[in-house]
Amino acid sequence: MAASRSTFTNKFGFIAAAAGSAVGLGNIWKFPFEVGKGGGSAFLIIYLIFCFVLCYPILVTEIAIGRRSQKSAAMAFRPLGHPRWSIVGILGVFCGVVILSFYNIVAGWVLGYFVEMLLGNFAIGQQFGEYVNDIAEVGGYTLAFLIATAYIVSQGVTKGIEKASKILMPVLIAIILVLTVYAMTLDGALDGITFYLVPDFTKLNLNVIYRALGQSFFSLSLGLGALMTYGSYLSRKENIISAGAMITFADVGIAFLAGLMIFPFVFSQGIEPEGGAGLIFMTMPGIFESMGPTLGIAVGSLFFLLLAFAALTSTISLLELPVAYLVDKHKVKRKYAVWYAAAVIFLLGIPSMLGNGYSEYFTKFITYVGAEQPVNFMDFVTDVASNTLLPFGGLMVSIFSIYIWKRRKLFRELSHGYPEFPRTFIARYIGFTLQYICPPVLGAIFIITILEIFFGVKII
Ligand code: PHE
Repeated sequence: MAASRSTFTNKFGFIAAAAGSAVGLGNIWKFPFEVGKGGGSAFLIIYLIFCFVLCYPILVTEIAIGRRSQKSAAMAFRPLGHPRWSIVGILGVFCGVVILSFYNIVAGWVLGYFVEMLLGNFAIGQQFGEYVNDIAEVGGYTLAFLIATAYIVSQGVTKGIEKASKILMPVLIAIILVLTVYAMTLDGALDGITFYLVPDFTKLNLNVIYRALGQSFFSLSLGLGALMTYGSYLSRKENIISAGAMITFADVGIAFLAGLMIFPFVFSQGIEPEGGAGLIFMTMPGIFESMGPTLGIAVGSLFFLLLAFAALTSTISLLELPVAYLVDKHKVKRKYAVWYAAAVIFLLGIPSMLGNGYSEYFTKFITYVGAEQPVNFMDFVTDVASNTLLPFGGLMVSIFSIYIWKRRKLFRELSHGYPEFPRTFIARYIGFTLQYICPPVLGAIFIITILEIFFGVKII
């Protein structure tokens, strides 16, 4: 069984792929506008606490479950516990499919914007509303992005996923560093940094905390088994504790840098940063235009290339979830599983594509009880899949590892590649968090979220 399973060639390959999964549109597109909405660094502080205190122990546990079972998400729980737990893995695969269905559309916009920037069409920023409703064009780019993802995944773990990540991640880091340094030199950069780093706690409320939690799970690719699946391809020689730390630092570090890049850009034009999802697509082109044609084209296309690369390493890991499920469970050949899964995902994404104004039905898809405005299909799926089900998946992983699989066995798995592990402080910290912090915190937020958003009960 284990012998025929493909593996990452070394630790760097694994870290590049897993950090590639984590670093994505969540860091560069979503993180800055969540910061904008959540009172600058008030949000940032809560987010950092969630990432390090709560998410890191879950992250290493997910990798350990995958490596121990040598199975992808949907099947990993079974050999380590009770078959009933497979439902958690299957829910994760479902989440991955749903997330990819809309994520891929945003990636399609990014690809389209990259082309527009190359052509010097900065006016696209003001036409964002019409652009997303140009179904033929957006559909085309979305399809192109999905095909690129599927092609890489079809090449397998070593020659596809690992190889692509080893190229894309270093380039991505180089681009973001160049752009951040450049953004800091602009007039008004300091105002941007002040907004970003000086907290406004008056904006802090339960909703901000809920979003910070959802963001930390989404950004670290947790709660749906993506890292579990990657963990199943990791050799026993490697140290999960240090690899996990590097993945977390890479993810948080790039999100932090993205803020240091975006806010100086935005404030250099005297714009209020609360623009929501459109922050990048509506505001940035105008900023590039103000740099003059040559520099604008260079910086603008580099910026959207950065986003496209970040998105690609994430869509790869999202597609790998259903693909690994089909390969492991149903023994479908990888090259067929990939295209089958991609076709389903494309079709599932159509309502999200239509819900930005094209179709009234999907645009005003649902009004939560007690909410003032209806949300569109994409926002609805984001709320269900990423903001609610991912933390729920994390809750299940913590309960499973302590009460079903048992802490002793988790620690034994974590000591492969790090024999002193059980005697370290970090082991005590991970054990304590999984047992005493994750279940009550994640459980409480899950229940409050369901009651408040979907049932309109006012709790806080
Ligand atoms: N972490 C990715 C991002 O921040 C998104 C993602 C979520 C990828 C879940 C895989 C699994 O963009």
